[in-house]
Amino acid sequence: MIINMSDKLGRNDACWCGSGRKYKKCHTFLEEQIAIYRLKGYEVPHIKLLKTKQQMEGIRESSKRNIALLDFIGEYAVDGITTEELDRLIYEKTKELGGIPATLHFNGYPKSVCISINDIVCHGIPSDHVILRNGDIVNIDVSTIYNGFFSDSSRMFCIGDVSEEKKRLVEVAKECMDLGIEQVKPWGFLGDVGQAVNDHAKKNGYSVVREIGGHGIGLEFHEDPWVSYVSKKGTGMLLVPGLVFTVEPMINMGKAEVFVDEGDDWTIYTADGKPSAQWEKTVLVTETGYEILTY
Ligand code: MF3
Ligand code: CO
Repeated sequence: MIINMSDKLGRNDACWCGSGRKYKKCHTFLEEQIAIYRLKGYEVPHIKLLKTKQQMEGIRESSKRNIALLDFIGEYAVDGITTEELDRLIYEKTKELGGIPATLHFNGYPKSVCISINDIVCHGIPSDHVILRNGDIVNIDVSTIYNGFFSDSSRMFCIGDVSEEKKRLVEVAKECMDLGIEQVKPWGFLGDVGQAVNDHAKKNGYSVVREIGGHGIGLEFHEDPWVSYVSKKGTGMLLVPGLVFTVEPMINMGKAEVFVDEGDDWTIYTADGKPSAQWEKTVLVTETGYEILTY
């Protein structure tokens, strides 16, 4: 049995996605494939999660600004600067580029960027009291709204002379993200990404944070699916062209356990106080593989 998901649409009508092609030549195939996987019991994306060509273009434009912000802020990530100052710079530059920082006032988050140093895993809140110091490893996580479209990416920065041990963590964390992204292909599964990340981290003696994951993104900041980086190959949501999500594993030098700061309710720390590293990119599933939107 084949379920037609757009029941009011005739096969010769223009496709709902705005491509201008007939529905039968456009999204019919995808919808039929998804229906088959659903009937077999797989977790499949809601059709609304699949971006139209116009939406993809919107997210691409947002992503360009998002990347420009990371390129821009890198120069300022030096010994002695406060994270408050970095936040101000991100805010100003985002405005200059015609965007809005997606984190600002998101679920009550007070700042325009997350800055997470050493044993802070993620969601570090910029502050006058926090100063980057020689030897620190720092994640700067920038999220951007442009013309209503969302993009999200982060990079690690090494401040001055960083120990070989921490440098290796930063490098392996990047490899984990890259290997995860390389798994992305249509009719694959989200678990393929998680397994590749987790295998590489473990091989290097590191652990992967379980409680916090990536997310779908594009029309909203956080959409389905939730993305685990300890998941198993062949499990989780079916990957379908048009799906957009972040690949942003958090890799810990020590144990995987984390806790939330009780004072601010945002900052996530490693339980054992050892450093953590994270890189993030926004990725689109294409008909042949993937496109890194925040390249
Ligand atoms: N870029 C971060 C993420 O998507 C933002 C978290 S929400 C915030 O994981 F409010 F903490 F910024
Ligand atoms: Co994110």
